[in-house]
Amino acid sequence: MQRARIDLVVIGILACLAALPGFADEKGARTAGDWRSVARTPDEQRYSPLESINADNVATLQRAWTLDTGTTRGLEATPVVVDGVMYTTLSWSVVLAVDPKTGTVLWRYDPEVPRETGRKACCDVVNRGVAVKDGRVYFGTLDGRLIALDATDGHRIWEVLTVDPSLNYTITGAPRIVGDKVVIGNGGAEFNVRGYVSAYDTKDGSLVWRTFTVPGDPAKPFESKALEEAARTWKGEWWKLGGGGTVWDSMAYDPDLDLLYVGTGNGTPWVQKHRSPGGGDNLYLSSILALDPDDGHLVWHYQTTPGETWDFTATQHIILADLRIRGRKRKVLMQAPKNGFFYVLDRTNGKLISAEPYVEVTWATGIDEQGRPIETKRFGEHVLFTKPTFFGGHNWQPMSFNPKTGLVYIPAQEILGAYRDDPGFEVTDVDFNVGTDFSVFAAFPPEAASGHLLAWDPVKQKEAWRVPYGMPWNGGTLTTGGNLVFQGTADGRFVAYRADDGRTLFVDHTETGVIAAPMTFELDGVQYVSILAGWGGAFGLGGGTAARGAAAGPGRLITYALASGAPTPEQIEAFITRPGEKADGERLYHQWCSRCHGAGGVSASLVPDLRKAVARLGDSFDLIVRLGLPGTAMPKMGDSVDEREIALIRRYLEARAAETD
Ligand code: HEC
Repeated sequence: MQRARIDLVVIGILACLAALPGFADEKGARTAGDWRSVARTPDEQRYSPLESINADNVATLQRAWTLDTGTTRGLEATPVVVDGVMYTTLSWSVVLAVDPKTGTVLWRYDPEVPRETGRKACCDVVNRGVAVKDGRVYFGTLDGRLIALDATDGHRIWEVLTVDPSLNYTITGAPRIVGDKVVIGNGGAEFNVRGYVSAYDTKDGSLVWRTFTVPGDPAKPFESKALEEAARTWKGEWWKLGGGGTVWDSMAYDPDLDLLYVGTGNGTPWVQKHRSPGGGDNLYLSSILALDPDDGHLVWHYQTTPGETWDFTATQHIILADLRIRGRKRKVLMQAPKNGFFYVLDRTNGKLISAEPYVEVTWATGIDEQGRPIETKRFGEHVLFTKPTFFGGHNWQPMSFNPKTGLVYIPAQEILGAYRDDPGFEVTDVDFNVGTDFSVFAAFPPEAASGHLLAWDPVKQKEAWRVPYGMPWNGGTLTTGGNLVFQGTADGRFVAYRADDGRTLFVDHTETGVIAAPMTFELDGVQYVSILAGWGGAFGLGGGTAARGAAAGPGRLITYALASGAPTPEQIEAFITRPGEKADGERLYHQWCSRCHGAGGVSASLVPDLRKAVARLGDSFDLIVRLGLPGTAMPKMGDSVDEREIALIRRYLEARAAETD
């Protein structure tokens, strides 16, 4: 689940629970301009139909306001905007209400989580957001409370404790609202807990139902038939350490089928022989569960990693969509869990439609017709190198689905991992109970880890395009009707890409690494894009990540809007002189110009050598590139590169001229 801590280095992956605020309105957002729940709509697509900001004008995006959050811990929430007010959570489960046009704080609620609770958090003291409905704001706290606040002034209406405080449960995920119930899970499966999800009455916080994800002590009556069946897939005395299977992040809801989908996490301990000696599937670990939201009973389940031993959670973001597959319209559920396979399931019955690796996968060669992985080899006393690893091919950072392009945008990562049994493993109450030897991992060179934005076609089950990043652990994604994908990166950039082909259209430097997902909304006819930027907690990946430039400045909530009109020369100048953009000019030149003008700006033929041309031409350089030279072989490039990109190419050529003088 969540992240893991490596001894020398703090790794954090993320984890714990989930969060998105949720299904505030079961029909979804009421108007195109709304973003009423963490993933905007109950299908959790994280798609907005807004298109005032689009691929043609996003280059002129500017900050409308920036709010310092006064924290340097990880920020993982997606804000929501409901009835003209923005709500978000910060680290330590603090809630903010903000004027979305100005960034003025309207109220702040601090649940005063005891700081010693931080010890139970595998992956930092994070929180992934609120749920809002009928004038109330609901959120979970790290120490396991569920709280309802009055949306107008932030005063507390009710508060319930959702966990046994003597155990190591934490809440980091956002609650979701289904009808008159608020649904919340929890995390803690590295620390001996039994996973469950609960529904509370929105009115007064009374418990309506609780569904455990793994069976308890078989000497006592099972809570349900489903758990009795699950118990047959476990061995030994698994219940003594809780079993795991926490519901720490993903949920989605289909109002037509009236099904609530939740993802479950890893086993406790990770290594199966300590948990269920002799094997077994260990239901319902690493599974997608479809529950009846009225009473929480299990309607169907799909287990992604039977008998899991790798920390391959299925708590990653779940998206519901209707796709045309082999000529048939299918109601699907999509997930890219940690284990590296992209799953498309029939969400009416949990049957597998397709599953293919979305990153390099070495632990299994594929998924068979029954939906089971075809495993290669498990680790034991010797080191086994694998991909993916407990960080996942994708972790909690939300993906998004654009119905116009038909693509899913995944914050993917390639991290080579090494597992080995920990020969000195002993169960403890106060530290990770995993059973693997982290020291074999900590020895890794940072180069063994990288990330990329992956545009994935879920119908063809193949990659459409990708943008490589030097580092893993980049932010979640947002996609819009303006043919855009927005994503923040570990190295502190906030970027807009064209959704159909992945071209970079806009970059801002947030001065801190971004892990959260952006959102967009419209107020009084103006479209805004917001992102919580805050590196923290989660990371480490062997300390090398920091060395490679993960930015850890103070956290901030940033909101962008379009500048009016075309970019001014000053804006272009400011854009191209920002640190880190040289590489973009080089890349753009080689993408669009080098096939005629020569690699590195060195012309080997009759075509002009642009290193020389650039100084001579002055301002006409940009004009020639934009419009071409009619009657010659110099094409009109204005359809492929915009003003800012031309300026980046010019700057690159000027630098090349200076180098080769
Ligand atoms: C299909 C081949 C081709 C591509 C692609 C191309 N060019 Fe050209 N370009 C030419 C040719 C040929 C000329 C010379 C035209 C002439 O004067 O007859 C030229 C001329 C120019 C000139 C004028 C040079 C001078 O000395 O006056 C500039 C500036 C230029 N190109 C920039 C670019 C840039 C920047 C790109 C990429 C964004 C690009 N070109 C892409 C073929 C190409």
